[in-house]
Amino acid sequence: MKALVLAGGSGTRLRPITHTSAKQLVPVANKPVLFYGLEAIAAAGITNVGIIVGETAAEIETAVGDGSELGIEVTYIRQEAPLGLAHAVLVARDFLGDEPFVMYLGDNLIIGGISGLVEEFRRSGPDALILLTKVSNPSAFGVAELGPGGRVVRLVEKPRQPPSDLALVGVYLFGPAVHEAVRAIKPSARGELEITEAIQWLVDGGYEVAPHLVEGYWKDTGRLDDMLETNRHLLESLEPAVRGVVDESSTVVGRVVIEEGASLVRSTVRGPAIIGRDTRIVDSYVGPFTSIYHSCAIEDTEIEYSIVLERATIRGIGRIEDSLIGRDVEVVPSAARPRAHRLMLGDHSRVSVATTP
Ligand code: TTP
Repeated sequence: MKALVLAGGSGTRLRPITHTSAKQLVPVANKPVLFYGLEAIAAAGITNVGIIVGETAAEIETAVGDGSELGIEVTYIRQEAPLGLAHAVLVARDFLGDEPFVMYLGDNLIIGGISGLVEEFRRSGPDALILLTKVSNPSAFGVAELGPGGRVVRLVEKPRQPPSDLALVGVYLFGPAVHEAVRAIKPSARGELEITEAIQWLVDGGYEVAPHLVEGYWKDTGRLDDMLETNRHLLESLEPAVRGVVDESSTVVGRVVIEEGASLVRSTVRGPAIIGRDTRIVDSYVGPFTSIYHSCAIEDTEIEYSIVLERATIRGIGRIEDSLIGRDVEVVPSAARPRAHRLMLGDHSRVSVATTP
């Protein structure tokens, strides 16, 4: 059995972060999203892993390398443009051969791993095994309609009138019949080869498409809210550890990790929260569900329910909530007169300023 991990795509919903970097490498609880997936694949005993890469190929390759640290062997497969999930299967044809494989979307996270699913697939040997989960807003997802005996009869992409509340989770298991399916389908209205259409092609052709209901936690981290929520969820099961320096005037409460080289000066960290390597927190409050990555400087600031990426500086600007702050970002008070907001924001940045009434 092989694995195909999708780490290309355009990530339009996470701009401007994705203008400069891969969304699969945004850290949640201080570990890039992609690594949770790769670890789950390794834990399921799959070592032969193809990673689909696009524009951010170099960054993904630098982060994952040959995979040996994760106990896997990685082959990188270049997709010239994000032409759809089924297109990714098409370009991976030579790598996959006729072996069954698990396809894993690199920005998805399933707590509890995939070992059980891989076992089930191996045992029952369907042409495809799709993962479904109940959601409250099925119109935002690919949705499955189940027929008598719980068989999959129809799949629809983001339906206005959803036939069920069962959304497709970003992990699929396929036998070799899928290769014929991805060759047979045509691009959708948005110009992509849709995996839902390929699976529908299998259903229509009488192939066995088995559903599996996911009980545990699953999240697609492709949007800011979902990324913050996933961060919250992962931090809740953090093993507390203080490996950095906490001075006498600082307080650490609850599930908190302070990584090596990090320091807390006259500050409070109320968990669950994680403070990355070589980060300095001075005269600040870090509240629950916050992940601050490596080498950041947080001074005279309150921050809660947020993710801060490496080398960001946040100083003296009051309270920050529900935020994703990119690499090397500076958020500091404006010293010069006239008193004004002075901004240099990337395309598609979103800033919501708490003005005084
Ligand atoms: P999506 O999140 O569905 O697509 P996207 O990355 O283009 O993002 P957005 O909708 O915000 O523009 O993709 C799911 C995963 O699959 C993600 O990790 C990117 C990857 N992917 C590819 O590798 N190739 C592709 O052609 C597509 C569409 C996605």
